[in-house]
Amino acid sequence: MMTAVVLGGTSGIGEALARELAAQGLNVVLAGRDLAELDARARDLEIRYGVRAWSRPFDALDFESHHDWLESCEREIGEEIGGVALCYGVMPSEDEAAVDGSLTRHMIEINYSSAVSILDRVAERLRDRGKGFICAITSVAGDRGRASNFHYGSSKAALSTYLSGLRVQMARDGVSVVDIRPGMIDTKLTYGLPGLMMLAKPRRVARDIVRGIRGNRAVVYTPKIWWLVMFVIRMLPDFIFRRIAL
Ligand SMILES: NC(=O)c1ccc[n+]([C@@H]2O[C@H](COP(=O)([O-])OP(=O)(O)OC[C@H]3O[C@@H](n4cnc5c(N)ncnc54)[C@H](OP(=O)(O)O)[C@@H]3O)[C@@H](O)[C@H]2O)c1
Repeated sequence: MMTAVVLGGTSGIGEALARELAAQGLNVVLAGRDLAELDARARDLEIRYGVRAWSRPFDALDFESHHDWLESCEREIGEEIGGVALCYGVMPSEDEAAVDGSLTRHMIEINYSSAVSILDRVAERLRDRGKGFICAITSVAGDRGRASNFHYGSSKAALSTYLSGLRVQMARDGVSVVDIRPGMIDTKLTYGLPGLMMLAKPRRVARDIVRGIRGNRAVVYTPKIWWLVMFVIRMLPDFIFRRIAL
């Protein structure tokens, strides 16, 4: 039975993905900072789905620990990891990010720098085996800089570009790399935000992620309608785009 890691196991999307993976019969490692919470969730997965599940500490900002994180995870649980899904991230408000440089730096470190740091190491290990998957949650916000959230969006665009290059490189080694671009999802991240539209449930996203991994897709917009929405937004000429309050 394959074992998958969910980095950010306490996130709304990460929790739903862990459930979906377990429902499909995969063993799951829930990784994050709140070990008590992750442990409770791991036990729940074992009882509900009859798979094995573990909790492991992971702090995105503890860059030193990334170097042999996967190796020590495999050693501790006694299983080979078949794939890693990166599901953590932060989104400060645009107004705060624009005036508080430390908040923006923190966001970039979590959403982009730490992702590159851990995924480079994961890629190294999976490459040696010639199989497996990497997937990471970026966002439709990375498709085009909008006045309402371009600080956050640019951290996701950077991650998408990284994943695009990694995908090409890893394809030669039999490892798939999937870029998951959700629209607006009903989680802690969006709770109470104004102007939410087409809010989707994390469960829906989780199903699309698993389908994307199984289908070895490059980019997955979820829910699917966001592909069309973002296609139109990307195509708008600048002189029109500037006049629309997005
Ligand atoms: N919700 C949306 O509408 C939406 C749309 C597009 C993309 N996304 C992206 O999808 C991903 C998951 O979003 P979500 O809505 O599910 O998030 P969420 O429920 O708000 O959870 C955020 C997660 O990030 C983790 N985290 C924060 N700092 C961390 C650190 N230093 N080390 C390790 N973990 C850390 C949190 O862990 P703790 O529990 O320890 O704080 C939590 O698990 C994010 O990358 C987000 O940008 C979300």
